[in-house]
Amino acid sequence: MRAIQIIHDEHRSLAAVLHGMLFLVRQMRYAGAEPNFDVLAAMVHYIDVFSERFHHPKEDQYLFRLLRLRHPDAIPLLAKLEDEHKMGAEKIRALEQALDHYQQGDTTKLPAFAAAAAAYAAFHYGHMRAEETEVLPLARIHLTASDWEMIDAAFTSHADPLVGVEAGIEYEKLFRQIVNLAPPPLGIGPTS
Ligand SMILES: [Fe+2]
Ligand SMILES: [Fe+2]
Repeated sequence: MRAIQIIHDEHRSLAAVLHGMLFLVRQMRYAGAEPNFDVLAAMVHYIDVFSERFHHPKEDQYLFRLLRLRHPDAIPLLAKLEDEHKMGAEKIRALEQALDHYQQGDTTKLPAFAAAAAAYAAFHYGHMRAEETEVLPLARIHLTASDWEMIDAAFTSHADPLVGVEAGIEYEKLFRQIVNLAPPPLGIGPTS
């Protein structure tokens, strides 16, 4: 069940970036900090590609697909979470747009970007919580040893072109880029 640990780790990476984004937004809104568009854009990009292209496909195609087969009572829950994966793609576009409008020089757009960031973060935190507190406990009970072999292989594979470890290394680089760009206390980037 290495996949369970990996899912928790991936959620933690996403949560760290969401938390960082909200922190920067608060600093901009209430402490007069200048917007650091490089960091904000890197954060939004990371959340987009890491969740859309890397994390959600593995959940949909391995964990959710097998849990549907083994425990049909979970179908409504899994359908809701799959819908959220699709909605997440739209919501992240809205967040990108809000950041774009703000970056194009109109400081009156900060509240709209702040609202989009807060809404996206709340949505994604709720989604991850449901997976950790509802899906994973059911998966532990109902999936078979051979299911876990397949899921673990997908989550740790070097070969799978969709979700391979090489893709994971790319996302780690992106994450490190955020840490290098973000000012303390979030990262180790320049303070102004
Ligand atoms: Fe998910
Ligand atoms: Fe997830």
